[in-house]
Amino acid sequence: MSRTPIMAGNWKMNMDHLGAVSLVQDLGKALEDAGYDPARSEAVVIPPFTDIRSVQTLVEGDKLPLAWGAQDISAHEDGAYTGEVSGSMLAKLGCSYVVTGHSERREYHGETDELVNAKAKKIIEHGMTPIICCGEPLEVRKAGKHVEHTVGQITADLAGIDAADVAKLVIAYEPIWAIGTGETATADDAQEVCGAIRKAVADLYDEATAESVRIQYGGSVKAGNVVEIMSKPDVDGALVGGASLKAGDFAQIVTFYAK
Ligand code: PGA
Repeated sequence: MSRTPIMAGNWKMNMDHLGAVSLVQDLGKALEDAGYDPARSEAVVIPPFTDIRSVQTLVEGDKLPLAWGAQDISAHEDGAYTGEVSGSMLAKLGCSYVVTGHSERREYHGETDELVNAKAKKIIEHGMTPIICCGEPLEVRKAGKHVEHTVGQITADLAGIDAADVAKLVIAYEPIWAIGTGETATADDAQEVCGAIRKAVADLYDEATAESVRIQYGGSVKAGNVVEIMSKPDVDGALVGGASLKAGDFAQIVTFYAK
């Protein structure tokens, strides 16, 4: 399998730019101590917008083995959109990745699959890689409709994106009931849906695209459960919230392969 696992730390609305500098410095040290090998997993931090410039300066200055990204993007190019941040602004700050479709934005900001799709296209247009999030709420899981729900989201989120771009992007399966709750899906639950997403990509595009796209699991991933989750064939990494705010914990997650 040629997919390099990707471990991305979604800091959400935590850490000002001073906290970001100290967290990234600590993370650099923790990764070095853990014998981090970038060929075996890719480490990404996704801080709030206000921290990105500081993170960029530090990572570039100290040549740390980290990529960084943003938690959101405007679907518009530029102009009178108060409060929004454009793709060109993020690309200029060296962002490699941008998250779209996170359940917190779907739920608290009413973001639809149509908007997630428009944002994914903007991210690609500016030469960055989308991390497209999907996943079901508890009632959908209880009704046994989690695969159908998640595949439906991803099908809509990818509409009109061509195979070459899909092959390079990242999809994060995050069951909403497992986010920030301490409740992790089992490794088999993660595999069931990540496998179904890969199959959907094969059906929508082709086998080569499906083999190439990286699919993360997210939802209460920590040092203690990452190895089991990563043992599944269709799980190519993790989108990590809470545990990415502690350098030592996130370094353990990034270097899961050493356990
Ligand atoms: P969590 O968040 O790891 O704190 O559950 C995951 C996410 O929302 O990306």
